[in-house]
Amino acid sequence: MAGTLDGTMPLLGLGVWQVPDGPECVNAVRWALDAGYRHIDTAQAYRNEASVGKALKESGLDRAEVFITTKFFPGAEDPVRAAEQSLRRLGTDHVDLYLVHWPGGGPEWAWPGMERAAELGHARSIGVSNFDEADLASVSAIAERMPAVNQIHFNPFAFRRALLEACLSRNIALEAYSPLGTGRLLSDATVAAVAEDTGRTSAQVLLRWAVQRGIPVIPKSTHRNRIEENLQIFDFELSEEAMARLDALDRTGGTGRALERPWW
Ligand code: A2P
Repeated sequence: MAGTLDGTMPLLGLGVWQVPDGPECVNAVRWALDAGYRHIDTAQAYRNEASVGKALKESGLDRAEVFITTKFFPGAEDPVRAAEQSLRRLGTDHVDLYLVHWPGGGPEWAWPGMERAAELGHARSIGVSNFDEADLASVSAIAERMPAVNQIHFNPFAFRRALLEACLSRNIALEAYSPLGTGRLLSDATVAAVAEDTGRTSAQVLLRWAVQRGIPVIPKSTHRNRIEENLQIFDFELSEEAMARLDALDRTGGTGRALERPWW
């Protein structure tokens, strides 16, 4: 079966990696939803799904209006059981997207359980994260249902062209995490120069670079003004020249690898 993404994934989501469970996370998600975000990205490993669920409930929005992603922690054994625990914490009967967080223990073993989670209706779509070209080939070889998404570290400094091509050729959507390089790219001189020329902020330029290619981004922030700033990326375009300047910042040599230093 083709890896279809059931329901449209909004191009901008709020990422909550490294946001502590509790008021900080509840507030960030509430502010995002109030500002107009309709996509939140969490994970079992982040330990803040309950705060995401609380914010979702407090927002008063219909569940169907918000795209929720969570990720299977591959240190656990059973993607189905783990999904059921996530759903309880999130206070919902399904997630829109459920990803294998990283190919821990190999790229294949968790996939049948992910497919089962989708069959049971726990997840509308299933996919992977931090999978490189070879991992995508391995999981594709055993998949009855193809991954819909590969969420990877992707920004102008990590412009993994070969991995992007590998995703496209398998009809897998690439989703970009750390689109601001966990904040480090915001002070880069080239990014700042493009921002100056465009009359936008560095964060908006980095996010626009991805969404202009149709690549979803999930910037993290716990500051209300930044959460709102990061949403203002659909009312301007980067010129071809600006895109090319940003493309040239790549430090990976256009790699097909998902990460330079895997942590598993
Ligand atoms: P904070 O959460 O304190 O606002 P990434 O999404 O690449 O992981 O980057 C997240 C980092 O970038 C966080 O440290 C976040 O800080 C910071 N950040 C997010 N949006 C902005 C922004 N618009 N301006 C400045 N810093 C930002």
